[in-house]
Amino acid sequence: MNNGPIGIYDSGFGGLSVWRELYKALPNESLIYLGDGANCPYGNLSEEKIRLLAEKSVRRLLDCGCKMIVVACNTATAAAIEYLRAEFSSVPFVGLEPAVKPACLATRTGVVGVVATKRSLESAKFLTTLARYGEGVKVVKAVGEGFVEAVECSEEHTAATQQKVRAVIEPIIEAGADVIVLGCTHYPFLRDVFSEVVGDRDVRIIDSGEAVEKRVESLLDEFGIRADRDNIPRYEFMTFADEEYRRGLESKALDIK
Ligand code: DGL
Repeated sequence: MNNGPIGIYDSGFGGLSVWRELYKALPNESLIYLGDGANCPYGNLSEEKIRLLAEKSVRRLLDCGCKMIVVACNTATAAAIEYLRAEFSSVPFVGLEPAVKPACLATRTGVVGVVATKRSLESAKFLTTLARYGEGVKVVKAVGEGFVEAVECSEEHTAATQQKVRAVIEPIIEAGADVIVLGCTHYPFLRDVFSEVVGDRDVRIIDSGEAVEKRVESLLDEFGIRADRDNIPRYEFMTFADEEYRRGLESKALDIK
């Protein structure tokens, strides 16, 4: 048993989509969310820069006594998870990866779309996953241009954002995809927009939220670090940006929970 908090880290607001899954499934676990904010978006940064930012963030969470770290950012996972696991070898880490495997298993047309950041799509980690699970499936990759910025600015529901989503996913659907993977933790906040653009076409939108939550539970058990059943959880929100940004994280979390 361990009543210490689980640390959840992202470049900004996106990891709150993972925070929500953990909040719902693990009601007695304390959660500390760190949304960098000062360096968001990560999508076009170099791998080296992202590794440095991830290390700084993880140190901050560990200084707060976190017993496990969830890197709730596909881009940071791709760039840094191996480095973080080696650097902090006694800490259990959970990373985020685009849900390529379930998508490839689910497709009936044999065409899958993956929308993510440029850095994620170009990463060795993603290309390895693709080679492992994408055999016999055509995978159409696309960068979600402007999606992260829309979520960061709370512009999920504007006409301009819908236009951006349409511009990215229409070509994927035209290529025959019946499953589209949201390969960035910011994108689940655009799920309604994706659904509107898809309309009544037979296309499933999937993300990694549920799989990550299951992985967190299995590591809590493996390390014997679940919180007591009667633990009263606390929820904290931190950032390297300013207090207004921090409050934004907190109020978005309250909104979605
Ligand atoms: N939420 C992030 C991800 O899952 C990062 C987006 C960004 O900062 O570009 O990839």
